[in-house]
Amino acid sequence: MGKIISNKEISPNVYLMKVGGNYKGDMGQFYMIRCDNFPLLSRPISIHNIEKDCISFLYEVKGQGTEILKNLKEDDKIILQGPYGNGFEKREGKIALIGGGMGIAPLFYTAKNLDNVDIYLGFSERSFLEKEYEGVCENLHIKIGGYITDMVDFDKYDYIYTCGPEKMMEKITEMGKDKVYVSVEKHMACGIGACLGCNCDTKNGNKKVCKDGPVFLGEDVYYE
Ligand SMILES: Cc1cc2nc3c(=O)[nH]c(=O)nc-3n(C[C@H](O)[C@H](O)[C@H](O)COP(=O)(O)OP(=O)(O)OC[C@H]3O[C@@H](n4cnc5c(N)ncnc54)[C@H](O)[C@@H]3O)c2cc1C
Ligand code: FES
Repeated sequence: MGKIISNKEISPNVYLMKVGGNYKGDMGQFYMIRCDNFPLLSRPISIHNIEKDCISFLYEVKGQGTEILKNLKEDDKIILQGPYGNGFEKREGKIALIGGGMGIAPLFYTAKNLDNVDIYLGFSERSFLEKEYEGVCENLHIKIGGYITDMVDFDKYDYIYTCGPEKMMEKITEMGKDKVYVSVEKHMACGIGACLGCNCDTKNGNKKVCKDGPVFLGEDVYYE
């Protein structure tokens, strides 16, 4: 059980929540989040950042669960289970991080933990947290509207890590081939591999996004 330090709307419908405490986690991993009076299953939210005395989550209000989260105030209690999943690996070489929409959320902590990264963020209407992302990478590129892939020179990079809409990740995989790693999103119930609710069809058979992923080699995934 953690205590909320802050939960602020940083752009319409997008919130940054900080929870006090000493939390663990690797880049691209997630926590299952719920509050005491949550009438629903927990919701998976990526680690946005971990500092000495707090963890942060960047989330968009989509439905009932995130609507409850957005109303939490400083000092309210929250239940965090995790860290879960296999995230992005630490690799040597020049890496591009490409995020679309709320897929930008895990890329902040990922960039913080890698040397030599450039970040590409694609937004449909308005950007946010530009200064923060600029502080954790060599070069930050932002695109509002259109395709973020138009800005990326794929030959420049040894690896590409991406998170966002499946169509975007599919296109990035086509362009970047075997150097692309994608973070897949599916609905989740248990978060630990017990309910079979988060199936992802891959070239190596059916995989569980919560346990085998969320990060997979892009070329292995059959996109929906
Ligand atoms: C590993 C993982 C990490 C995630 N990290 C983040 C994050 O850092 N920030 C963030 O904003 N969101 C993240 N998500 C998505 C987030 O879990 C969902 O938006 C959230 O569960 C919606 O819950 P809700 O109760 O508000 O909406 P619901 O009432 O459950 O659904 C509202 C709408 O959102 C759609 N939806 C629900 N869950 C998902 C999903 N997993 N993927 C796509 N569409 C969905 C539903 O189809 C529905 O249209 C992540 C998902 C996964 C699997
Ligand atoms: S969420 Fe239950 S198996 Fe993945």
